Amino acid sequence: MGLTKPATDGDLESALAEAVGRYDAEALRQRFEDDDRFIVLDDFLPGRVVEALVYDVECTRDDINRNYVPRQKKGGSVSRFALDRIGSGAAGIYGSAVMRHFIETIVGESVEDCPVDDPHTYALYHYSEPGDHIGWHFDTSFYRGRRYTLLLGLVSNESCVLECELHKRDTRRVNERRAYRLAPGSLALFDGDRLWHRVTPLGEHDGERVILTMEMVTDPTMNPWRRLISKVKDSVAYFGFRDSFRPGRRGEAGGSPLLRGDP
Ligand SMILES: [Fe+2]
Repeated sequence: MGLTKPATDGDLESALAEAVGRYDAEALRQRFEDDDRFIVLDDFLPGRVVEALVYDVECTRDDINRNYVPRQKKGGSVSRFALDRIGSGAAGIYGSAVMRHFIETIVGESVEDCPVDDPHTYALYHYSEPGDHIGWHFDTSFYRGRRYTLLLGLVSNESCVLECELHKRDTRRVNERRAYRLAPGSLALFDGDRLWHRVTPLGEHDGERVILTMEMVTDPTMNPWRRLISKVKDSVAYFGFRDSFRPGRRGEAGGSPLLRGDP
């Protein structure tokens, strides 16, 4: 695979401006609401941005934390801290003003960064071994406000499919089942407390699937007891103890430029 080193912060921002400029964000906002606060955009990211992020995937393979929760999930995760250590472009996308405006227009409200100690702020999810999956769930927020999940497809396969049921919590509407492969460059955005979803198991002879996930919140505060529950859950199901209970440090917030050192 030909790996591409990233360009500069300015190049990333212009690439993202090019991406969002192809859409009528107000029209997407209506589509988002009509579809139970969920939207998928195929071919969203320009190819050069996808290539830079796939480069980050390769640079963080030693940081993958494998996890297994019986009957619920099996897979690998790479936290924001590992992505920050290599200067990943994920931070640049998360902190991008043009992306944030695009997202806020679609969801219809202002959103904020997650706290610096949240390993989910941006992270990679790997589905790389047979049976890797995540069962049906909501992305239930432990924060006081709403939490939006943004998924960017980086590496896709045939068997790991994002399946979702729209209107699950609306008793007046009939549930609607949908399925998406999330090919490289595609975007999914949803209100985590509304979308009932899962990722189907990786088959025996299929390749891996890698997703870049990001979270934005309307209120970044959390009850201390819920924070502890959240960290225990992250430790077991995603990132391991070290990254889940890692204290945040000043200057680690998203938005760092897409300037990569040699990892
Ligand atoms: Fe989820």
